[in-house]
Amino acid sequence: MSANQDPPSLRHVAIIMDGNGRWAQRRGWPRLKGHHAGAETVRCVLQCCRRAGIQYLTLYAFSKENWRRPKAEVDGLMRLLRDFLRRQEAELHDQRVRLRVMGCREDLSAAVRREIERVEVATASYEAGQLILALSYGGRTEIAHAARQIASLAARGELDPASVDEQTLARHLYLPDVPDPDLIIRTSGEQRISNFLLWQSAYSEFYVTPVLWPDFREADFQAALDNYAARLRRFGGIEAGTPPQEKPPC
Ligand code: FPP
Repeated sequence: MSANQDPPSLRHVAIIMDGNGRWAQRRGWPRLKGHHAGAETVRCVLQCCRRAGIQYLTLYAFSKENWRRPKAEVDGLMRLLRDFLRRQEAELHDQRVRLRVMGCREDLSAAVRREIERVEVATASYEAGQLILALSYGGRTEIAHAARQIASLAARGELDPASVDEQTLARHLYLPDVPDPDLIIRTSGEQRISNFLLWQSAYSEFYVTPVLWPDFREADFQAALDNYAARLRRFGGIEAGTPPQEKPPC
């Protein structure tokens, strides 16, 4: 970024919270202890977002692929999620933050779904910010889900297949009203997108830190924001710009 360039706007941060297992294993503890410590980091980062005026925070809390983990770990993560929602609810109310979930919620147990739906309804009117949990989420599954919806509209004669464009697909994603993430942070040093927000990340800035998620603190979050602030987002053009909205010529 040149000296007189304004920093890019930052409305939406998405995080791949990685490294809980390694954090615990390095201490000779069970992996679940790492997830519990990771849940504390979630609370801290949510507060950081409020202070920094970031409107949307999306957290990759459980992927479609995470169901392959040992049953004890999956069950422990689901219990942790329910406890987290119960404990976090008061803070969501205080800060007027809306909870939303993206992913295949039908994969979740009835008890987890009930807890999510209760907090979603209780916070639905809040506009100060949104905490979005990606749960049983996979980017490819989300795109396939959107394609299925579009195909059935076309099969019923309610949509002309020739009119399907990027905006059509974007309208059929899980949360079509949420802007694409400006910044995606991944902890623990891995340099992969791991099936996270595949469509929405087309122009996101990517920041990888070696810090393991349970160790990630306000200073680490601020370092990511500072790094982002120095980026020049060109969206395929040659100068700082905004994401392309118009359909590009084919
Ligand atoms: C990846 O670390 C993390 C997960 C699969 C789960 C993320 C869950 C939390 C941070 C805690 C609960 C979240 C909420 C919203 C309450 P890993 O286990 O793959 O770590 P590793 O790569 O070191 O094994």
